[in-house]
Amino acid sequence: MIDQANKLREMIRKKAETEKKTKHQIKVYSIVSGKGGVGKTNFSVNLAIKFQQMGKRVLILDADIGMSNANILMGIETPRTLLDLLKDDLILKDIIAKGPYKVDLISGGADLFYLEKLDDKKQHEILSNLAELDEYDILIIDNGAGISKQSLTFTILADEIILVTTPEPTALTDAYRVLKAVSTYELKNKIKVVINQVPDMDTGDYAYNKLFKTSEQFLKIDLEKLGYIFSDIRVNKAIMEQLPITIINPNALASTNISQIAEAILGDKEYNYNVSNLKQFKNKLIRLFG
Ligand SMILES: Nc1ncnc2c1ncn2[C@@H]1O[C@H](COP(=O)(O)OP(=O)(O)OP(=O)(O)O)[C@@H](O)[C@H]1O
Ligand SMILES: [Mg+2]
Repeated sequence: MIDQANKLREMIRKKAETEKKTKHQIKVYSIVSGKGGVGKTNFSVNLAIKFQQMGKRVLILDADIGMSNANILMGIETPRTLLDLLKDDLILKDIIAKGPYKVDLISGGADLFYLEKLDDKKQHEILSNLAELDEYDILIIDNGAGISKQSLTFTILADEIILVTTPEPTALTDAYRVLKAVSTYELKNKIKVVINQVPDMDTGDYAYNKLFKTSEQFLKIDLEKLGYIFSDIRVNKAIMEQLPITIINPNALASTNISQIAEAILGDKEYNYNVSNLKQFKNKLIRLFG
């Protein structure tokens, strides 16, 4: 574990060095959570749609390998998935599904059969090939719950981590565990937070402040509140219909909340400051992993 942590720290140090030298363009957002089922995939898909509506070219990487479901939420067929890259002689372009909302998707696959082939080397190769695609401004990585080696490898190279949690004590405890791991291994010094499924603003404030205060007291990590998403029955209905809420009900409270979060992200000075292209992202990967 210590070896692993040292390796990760070294990767991050090199990444920081590289970032100083190169101005990179594609913005990579890694969506993570502690507890499962808090709403990462729903948020990722709808955030991507909002970004697209704001003029960005967006690709979602469903990194919940073997258990992916972003395709289900988007109601699209993904005949080929990330796992097919592991068994066939395919390139990333072959496995990108063109979404109906002008948001493209790489699915993580629905079985775990080839998962053991997704070692570090293959993950780096995949990300490196991703960097050859010029046609995207934003990559959203929708991870599985918790911190696994795989989600860490994808997350480590992201520009921003967005932690999603609900206000439930169990979800907050698990969210804190993620923050603790990120802080302990010095993976990032800043994390954006979304509190999903809040019944009212006060509950959102209470949950965020709890996370913020505990992190401030015990961790070396800055939290940034991106916003709250209200618990909205229309989200469940949208999922049942396999139509994203921002498409079928753009005026629903949850849609408006996600819109505001998208605007906050794109309005962020750092977003505009830190824009580059996927080729440079590839260079970063090559320097990072050799
Ligand atoms: N704002 C919301 N209001 C009401 N229900 C919601 C909201 N967001 C998510 N949900 C519910 O939570 C469920 C889980 O959402 P989702 O699949 O996005 O979570 P997840 O974090 O991606 O789960 P996993 O950890 O399994 O990947 C949805 O099916 C939906 O019923
Ligand atoms: Mg999910």
